[in-house]
Amino acid sequence: MEDKSAILVGASGLVGGELLNFLLQGEQYSKVIVLGRRPLNITHPKLEEIIVDFEYLDEYKESFSVDDVFCCLGTTIKKAKTKEGFKKVDVDYVLSLARIAKEMKVEKFLIVSSMGANQGSAIFYSKMKGLVEESLKKIGFNSLHIFRPSLLLGKRQEVRSGEAAASVLSQLLLFMFRGPLRKYRPIDAKVVAKGMYRAAQKERDGHYIYMSDEIFNLS
Ligand SMILES: NC(=O)c1ccc[n+]([C@@H]2O[C@H](COP(=O)([O-])OP(=O)(O)OC[C@H]3O[C@@H](n4cnc5c(N)ncnc54)[C@H](OP(=O)(O)O)[C@@H]3O)[C@@H](O)[C@H]2O)c1
Repeated sequence: MEDKSAILVGASGLVGGELLNFLLQGEQYSKVIVLGRRPLNITHPKLEEIIVDFEYLDEYKESFSVDDVFCCLGTTIKKAKTKEGFKKVDVDYVLSLARIAKEMKVEKFLIVSSMGANQGSAIFYSKMKGLVEESLKKIGFNSLHIFRPSLLLGKRQEVRSGEAAASVLSQLLLFMFRGPLRKYRPIDAKVVAKGMYRAAQKERDGHYIYMSDEIFNLS
């Protein structure tokens, strides 16, 4: 067992839940701190859960004495109700986390962004993902890993009819996602989580962006 520690944010979500399993079951981490707004109702000797108010993340600064920070936070415009609400979660909370992590000397930050992330995009979602990526690059982590999955597959507790329809359609058209189109292939949340776990074990400095096809290769 290695003696690394990690913070995971978004552990109650699809990718975050899968990543939590890897972090708890793997040999690399002896302590996993989950920051969330509600309890997970899981107990594990390595797990420390902290219920936080994301508006006041600075109050939990002392918990950030860890090796790696994994961010799987995110909402949808439907859930957030407004673009401002969406930006608050997908951009502002993420950047607060990252700035505190940097201040507390965390060297490695890993985040799930999205395919199409582009600060100049006319699509609000892609623009916000691009904005958060560019801002993270400026924070100056020694090691920054950005994952840009295409459509995520996996079992959700909530119904997302658009994603469900896209998932069915893409399963029918799987044969199309070959060669250069492989990066558009829908990807299981578990594969993304495994890719994040694996990337965190590479002792390489620098900024890395992984499209779905590269995430498949990592995992
Ligand atoms: N869905 C897709 O097909 C897709 C594709 C590419 C990229 N992505 C991106 O991948 C990332 C992970 O996606 P996912 O589907 O795993 O996410 P998810 O299942 O919706 O989980 C999101 C996580 O963020 C937390 N969260 C949401 N709103 C919050 C708030 N206001 N305050 C505090 N925590 C909040 C949730 O906590 P609660 O459980 O407390 O709500 C949950 O832990 C997201 O950034 C998403 O945009 C998604």
